[in-house]
Amino acid sequence: MIRGGARLSGQVAVSGAKNSALKLMAAALLAPGVSILHNVPDIQDVRTMRELVEHLGARVTFSDGTMTIDTVGVQSHVAPYELVQRMRASIQIMGPLVARFGHARVAMPGGCNLGPRKIDFHLSGLRQLGADVRSDHGFVEVRAGRLRGSTIVLDYPSVGATENLLMAAVLAEGETVVDNAAREPEIVDLCKFLVSMGAIIEGAGTSEITVRGVLALQPAEHTVIGDRIEAGTFLIAGAITGGDVEVDGVSPHHLDIFLSKLRAIGVQVQENGRRVRAWGDPAYYSATDFATLPYPGFATDLQAPMIVLLSMAQGSSIVTENVFVNRFGFVDELVRLGADIKVSGHHAVVNGGRALTGATVRCPDLRAGAALVLAGLVAQGYTEIRDTFHIHRGYERFDAKLRSLGADVERVGPSHSHNSGARAPLGIASDAER
Ligand code: UD1
Repeated sequence: MIRGGARLSGQVAVSGAKNSALKLMAAALLAPGVSILHNVPDIQDVRTMRELVEHLGARVTFSDGTMTIDTVGVQSHVAPYELVQRMRASIQIMGPLVARFGHARVAMPGGCNLGPRKIDFHLSGLRQLGADVRSDHGFVEVRAGRLRGSTIVLDYPSVGATENLLMAAVLAEGETVVDNAAREPEIVDLCKFLVSMGAIIEGAGTSEITVRGVLALQPAEHTVIGDRIEAGTFLIAGAITGGDVEVDGVSPHHLDIFLSKLRAIGVQVQENGRRVRAWGDPAYYSATDFATLPYPGFATDLQAPMIVLLSMAQGSSIVTENVFVNRFGFVDELVRLGADIKVSGHHAVVNGGRALTGATVRCPDLRAGAALVLAGLVAQGYTEIRDTFHIHRGYERFDAKLRSLGADVERVGPSHSHNSGARAPLGIASDAER
């Protein structure tokens, strides 16, 4: 529950990147022993991945952002449907399991709010590395002796496929080249961890990554990079409220295009080491077009938050979504708050400068949920956001961090819509939510 109108100002610490931490946890499965990860965000997706690696037989401890993963007891190679349908990133255990144990059985991820998200690149890549891949009863069964290095040309620089194939190739016999590889900072982070485990990898962060397979890896210790998407979300929170927010703990370089778009809109941006500050007066913001693309292009995960900023700017902006179909699913909710946005296929026209007014809205997915919270910060009166469990999948203590910047926001009652009828009154958060 948000009361709009507060200016957000101050500094906020960015948590470790969700999209890195999840893959590092999967990568730990590659070596027998105890790997240690620092700066792991305490979010629902990390808890789900923990459940998954524990289900496989690993022992995990997690406190103050430090996670230890002891993989000595790993015996199962099965990712059950219940966990995969809760979190698609569960499929990232496929590469490590088949590389180390020669077997993985993973439930097929079902449909998802972001449209059909296929895993064909993951599977054809594993086949090229010599694995036998079959599907039955809703599961993908991957079997191999020792994998054999190969040249894999991805049709598209898929983040997940690049990661799964790298984690498979590190223990394969001979050399693997992943061409048209994804270049995201989280891929570079994963490769650094793999190298500290003893892997031989060149070209991480470029579109051609070469791996020379080794016979075995050792556990390692690693610190997760800062979450560029969380950082971008808080910078927008500062900009839309006419406030002044500094995020600490992220590489500004990972936000290059995003920051240049903020500047084009008229937001003041200052970069300083691992800190970025954004401030400005929404009355002077102007429309700007952008298109989402694989890194270093504009991150699709910041598309929804950015649309909220554009709906404050004067003029019409054209937003093109190139990565996921259906990622405009939240626009209807934003329109309920008074935004003027028209969607046609993978384009959206945002007619800015409309005053938003509070209403009850529902989160369709993680980043859209965060965007609706942002809209609530500037909407007049109260905005009630339902299905906030999506937000807790990826943002650590989102409401508390917003409050620390001056937002008037409370977690109220359970985060699932089917319970929201039994909501507690404003200001009383249920135990289940803490
Ligand atoms: C990851 C991120 C997600 C981000 C996305 C793009 C995690 C946990 N999630 O998702 O937050 O929005 O990268 O930056 O890291 N595709 C296929 N076949 C495949 C694989 C992908 O057609 O085998 C398509 C997808 O449907 C999608 C596009 O490729 O349209 C991009 O997907 P991908 O880069 O793989 O995203 P994820 O790894 O799922």
